[in-house]
Amino acid sequence: MFITLEGGEGAGKSTQARRLAAALTARGQPVLLTREPGGAAGAEALRGLLLARPFDARAEMLLHFAARREHLVRSIRPALAAGATVVCDRFADSTFAYQVGGQGGDPQLWAALVTHTLEGIWPDLTFLLDLPVEVGLARAAARGEANRYEAADPDFHHRVRLAYHALAAREPERFRLIDATLPEDEVAEAILACLPAP
Ligand code: TYD
Repeated sequence: MFITLEGGEGAGKSTQARRLAAALTARGQPVLLTREPGGAAGAEALRGLLLARPFDARAEMLLHFAARREHLVRSIRPALAAGATVVCDRFADSTFAYQVGGQGGDPQLWAALVTHTLEGIWPDLTFLLDLPVEVGLARAAARGEANRYEAADPDFHHRVRLAYHALAAREPERFRLIDATLPEDEVAEAILACLPAP
């Protein structure tokens, strides 16, 4: 099973990805816990570039998919083939939300890149950790230094959130909308409650 966690800044995805992976491991399931951009050596190198400086919007979308392709081929696909559950902090939905929704990139380019680079590998289940933009940005700010996406203006983050909602409406069977304003333990419980019985 391929599970992704998505959401805007300060939603708590990384914490919840760790907790979900730990819960699955405790059930005796082999798990790969991974993240994007990154999750493979070349993809981590691209992450460094992507977080350090802005690019032309198309170049940026291509770089995210270049990182994703490395991650998919070197980490995700082999793990799935070996029978592991993959828990991934962000995936292609992030590129739709940030580069198409936030930055106004071309949705057709996004769809073409999904078709031509992901080998038909697509999440079975996606948790959208949803919370008001202001709440998320305040949490992210309290956490310390902002990356360049976090530092974008609130309108950008409102567009990101709307784009996520559009994706969730388009694929309701894949998405589970989780109220990320709840306490951490309750979010973790809500996520576990959506999993198929062990
Ligand atoms: P990260 O520090 O992992 O942030 P977060 O904890 O919010 O996930 O940095 C990843 C940043 O990259 C995040 O701000 C969102 C952005 N991003 C994109 O813009 N497009 C993408 O396709 C992905 C995977 C991430």
